[in-house]
Amino acid sequence: MKVLLVAAVVALIHGIAATLLIKGPSEPVLEGEHVTLECLYSDSELNISQVHFEVFSQYMQRWRTIWSGSWCFASMSTERTADSLVLFIPHAAVNNDGSYRCVSDGENGTAADMISPLLDFKVHYMRELSLTREGYRSYLGVPQELKVRLGDDVVLECDASSSEEPDFSWSRDGDDWILPSSTLTLRKISAMDEGHYTCMAEHPSVEALRRNRTISITVLSKDARWYESSNARFMLMTSAAAFSLLMLTFVVSASLFLFCRARRAAAFKGPIDDHYQKKPIYKTSVESLPSICADKQPLV
Ligand SMILES: *[C@@H]1O[C@H](CO)[C@@H](O)[C@H](O)[C@H]1NC(C)=O
Ligand SMILES: *[C@@H]1O[C@H](CO)[C@@H](O)[C@H](O)[C@H]1NC(C)=O
Ligand SMILES: *[C@@H]1O[C@H](CO)[C@@H](O)[C@H](O)[C@H]1NC(C)=O
Repeated sequence: MKVLLVAAVVALIHGIAATLLIKGPSEPVLEGEHVTLECLYSDSELNISQVHFEVFSQYMQRWRTIWSGSWCFASMSTERTADSLVLFIPHAAVNNDGSYRCVSDGENGTAADMISPLLDFKVHYMRELSLTREGYRSYLGVPQELKVRLGDDVVLECDASSSEEPDFSWSRDGDDWILPSSTLTLRKISAMDEGHYTCMAEHPSVEALRRNRTISITVLSKDARWYESSNARFMLMTSAAAFSLLMLTFVVSASLFLFCRARRAAAFKGPIDDHYQKKPIYKTSVESLPSICADKQPLV
């Protein structure tokens, strides 16, 4: 159980010094951890039953009372003990971030309208690292094994979604240099640049939050066939995907077209087609004239 840190400010109401306190975790909270907040009076004479928690809603730009049992606060529960009100958050999540306070809503007595100091609550996290190569589309990421042609430039960018901007560094297996940057730049790559490179990300305020990702770089000879490089493979993959999509679109539209035509043909078959009966028939002609250019009386 974490030591609770007391944040307190003296409130003077009706000339009587009394303080409403809020306690929260003393250490940074990680995603998924169990957290408790607590409201209590410095003066135990005051009745805690009229105290409740409030959280500032960024969305509504106002303070909202935390109701235990309301679906808005389904991830929390409150419990009243003899001299405190406790808020439980069993699995801290990013949406629990915010400013919390304790408010006394007693309408009578000296505790009326007392408000505790604010407690700013932040949940820390760091997601998996993502790598992108400069000049290449980022949505597929970089392969675990990057094959590049001799003399190419390789610029790799390491990134992570995190509650605070991480400290990044790059290193190479077997070497003792560390590049304190999120960007690894290898210009005019040569066989000497081959190896396993690791990007490391460390959370600036939570030591436990750190991630790493390793990528192997292989240098192909200058006369390597063009499709052997990761770049070409990527292009082939993309083209294959685009082609499949095109074919799929074609097949679907063709089927739709045929289906609609069949439907229309079926619909028109309904009543007996009296098309020919509206037109005059010529004795000498096998065909009738089109009705639009027909006279009222047939020419006999
Ligand atoms: C606090 O107030 C509630 C009713 O509002 C009452 O039932 C309870 O006995 C009071 N507790 C103390 C310690 O005065
Ligand atoms: C406190 O307020 C309630 C109503 O909110 C009232 O019934 C009660 O008599 C009040 N008590 C005192 C001591 O003023
Ligand atoms: C890299 O991360 C893995 C877990 O994903 C961990 O086991 C390993 O020790 C880390 N390596 C370094 C050098 O921190």
